[in-house]
Amino acid sequence: MKVNFIDLQGQYQSLKEEIDAAIAEVLDSSAYILGPSVSHFEQTFAEYCACREAIGVNSGTSALILALKALRIGPGDEVITAANTFIATVAAIVQTGATPVLVDADPFTRLIDIDEIEKAITKKTKAIIPVHLYGLMADMDRINAIADKHDLFVIEDAAQAHGARLKDRPAGSYGILGCFSFYPAKNLGAYGEGGAIVTSNKKLAKKIRKLRDHGSERKYFHDYMGYNARMDGIQGAVLGVKLKYLDEWNQSRNDIADLYREALSGMPIKLPQEFKHFYQVYHQFVIETDVRNELQQYLSRNDIGTLIHYPVPIHKQKAYKKAGLKKVAFPVTERFCETVLSLPMCPRLKAAQVEYIAVKMREFFGSR
Ligand SMILES: Cc1ncc(COP(=O)(O)O)c(C=O)c1O
Repeated sequence: MKVNFIDLQGQYQSLKEEIDAAIAEVLDSSAYILGPSVSHFEQTFAEYCACREAIGVNSGTSALILALKALRIGPGDEVITAANTFIATVAAIVQTGATPVLVDADPFTRLIDIDEIEKAITKKTKAIIPVHLYGLMADMDRINAIADKHDLFVIEDAAQAHGARLKDRPAGSYGILGCFSFYPAKNLGAYGEGGAIVTSNKKLAKKIRKLRDHGSERKYFHDYMGYNARMDGIQGAVLGVKLKYLDEWNQSRNDIADLYREALSGMPIKLPQEFKHFYQVYHQFVIETDVRNELQQYLSRNDIGTLIHYPVPIHKQKAYKKAGLKKVAFPVTERFCETVLSLPMCPRLKAAQVEYIAVKMREFFGSR
């Protein structure tokens, strides 16, 4: 048996007719950039996120940059975020000229350690960017309470958490702005690059709409120094079709997570935890083990694809040696880099495949 880490082709084949028709409509209309397919997706995605507006952009990284720019964050400002995240969260802060201030991970949630946030706040702090890593939302009630107390903005990095909920309120709706990525492998993935910002603040939405298009609302009249960060019509069309299936796919991910929990029980590994009031969307199913590298190699030899999210922490990346990161230790994040392993996870994963992975893992641990 072969188990790929993810099966994007299978998903496309299951929706081929609908997707092909939606793409053909864009091609026939020549609305290649923005246009009706993007507007339609923006409306439905805003609703999905319980927000008044969604602005489609060309990547999750652009979404974060535009969010920060819209809040006038830049040189001299500090932005607090998680040490345990994908590089784009921190890159976006640096791109604006602001200084990222990293906070170590909580060993249980693996997300930003909320108890440590207040210690990182200074007079220069303008915003907090919690990251809903692997499909689990950060505790936004607690983070918003800290932000309110210190008069800070909260921007959610929800790139890995489309449809995740805390007390039935969706990811993206807790911060003043919520940023999403539609990288193909995400829970809601485009067929190319894509991203969105959601908000219920009409003023900010208007500004971000301009920022994504060279700071203009009216062609050739520029109110801000903006960007070219517009969403393609084809991506809007693809996302519009796929959004209808997102809840179903997220539920399948939860069902697969349950199968994993049962099949892997009793093994010397740490499984992702469930938390009361949180609906996770298992963007990744991440286990922890001290023999991560050996296990990954063993699974690979048995045709099982796995990935490491992430092997090198941001503060140890070559690119960030000179980014002005404060010299603070991040032992929990560093430990995760040595122990985490993402097992195959996508809505189409079969029970028999989960069983095969479990058999191979039992074999691996049994032989040690
Ligand atoms: C947590 C996180 N933030 C930001 C991004 C950036 O998104 P994109 O790749 O669409 O620029 C990603 C995904 O790639 C991500 O996983």
